[in-house]
Amino acid sequence: NLNITIAGGGSTYTPGIVQALLNDLDKLPIKKLVLYDNDPQRNRDMYLIIDFMLKKKGVCHVELVETTKPKEAFSKCDFVFTQIRVGGLEMREKDEKIPLKYGLIGQETCGLGGFAYGLRSIKGLLEIVGYVQDYSPEAWILNYTNPESIVAEAVRRQYPKAKILNACDMTISIEETIAVNYGYDRKNWISDYYGLNHFGWYTKIYDKSLKRDVMPEIIRKLSISPMKVADFNAGDESWQETYSMMSVMTKNFPQNIPNSYLQYYLYPDIAVEHADKEYTRANKVMNGREKNTKEMARKICEGKKEDILNFNFGEHGQYIVDMAISILHDLHQRFMLIVPNKGAIPNLREDAVVEIPAYVGATGVEPISLRGNICDFHKGLMEAQVAAEKLLVDAYFEGSYQKALQAFTLNQTVPSARVAKLVLDDMMGANKAYWPEL
Ligand code: G6P
Repeated sequence: NLNITIAGGGSTYTPGIVQALLNDLDKLPIKKLVLYDNDPQRNRDMYLIIDFMLKKKGVCHVELVETTKPKEAFSKCDFVFTQIRVGGLEMREKDEKIPLKYGLIGQETCGLGGFAYGLRSIKGLLEIVGYVQDYSPEAWILNYTNPESIVAEAVRRQYPKAKILNACDMTISIEETIAVNYGYDRKNWISDYYGLNHFGWYTKIYDKSLKRDVMPEIIRKLSISPMKVADFNAGDESWQETYSMMSVMTKNFPQNIPNSYLQYYLYPDIAVEHADKEYTRANKVMNGREKNTKEMARKICEGKKEDILNFNFGEHGQYIVDMAISILHDLHQRFMLIVPNKGAIPNLREDAVVEIPAYVGATGVEPISLRGNICDFHKGLMEAQVAAEKLLVDAYFEGSYQKALQAFTLNQTVPSARVAKLVLDDMMGANKAYWPEL
């Protein structure tokens, strides 16, 4: 039986992960579940909710622990799920609002907001990977921490031998939305996709039951009738704009289905035009998911348990749980993962960190190489992004302002080095407590 630690246990995404764990207890038998967070209050709230979930499901054999102590959290564990957000939503708000002040995209993982978040996340994640190396070096780390390409690059440099899988749920989320909107069953799909995290394209979606590549017909459908937010998005209407932009992208570039996040690089002008500079996604999450969770913990504390937990946690957690199952039972299931390129995309630099399909089994990840080169349009976009991300990681390790400025300037949402410097200086001030000294 397994010991699982969730780093960033106080996150409002934790119930979704636990919901998936509880559905799969037969495949992933748990003895101990540890919530680790550096914010004791958030961790406590989450402990109350998870404890309630376990009891409601009649699960009494799982020991639930909350802790802020690394040694207690990471000793003797088999799997560590990492989903930390360094600086919390207060800093996410700054990532989104500072670039908007200068007329640039304000987004948590893309553009300069993503770069600011990257410089914060690297330190937090390296710390956790370090603890796991010290206390449970045989444990598998399944990482959800954003921005994924940047933190994956940093971990690879500092801990090249760490047993870590870097994964993002976005491709699953896009596929599920497509399937629900246009009447397919995603479980029948074998998808071919390449790119960087939040920056890629589908090249084929083979449907095993229909026995054909359904991507061309989906592209036609996308351009005729845009998708609607699906139930598994927990009815969150703010995804609507994202899915509408997928139609705009496929109308103009009908060769592939893009990752929805590419809208920020291809159409930054539209995204800025539609943005509310005073009230961004961080504010929506703070006033929605965060508030509801706090309220739920309070009700549990007061013994008012009716109606609690009758809401949708989304599918986010299932992906990470499926990966753990595939490792434990050596299933060699196929996932979209963020891995060192090493020739998998033949005409892209070897040392890029790319997102491609891969099989996952007891010995880790086996990436699936592409059968040929990628086109110049995608290659050009990816190369600029890879170089910018690498410069940012250099800036972190070397404490180099110059490298940070180069990274900010090269980011494809930025029109000039003058604006890059203004935003960098502003962000440096806002991130004093988190960034390395540059
Ligand atoms: C998707 C992305 C994640 C991102 C999340 C943000 O799941 O794949 O990388 O962090 O959306 O969701 P939120 O509800 O916090 O805006």
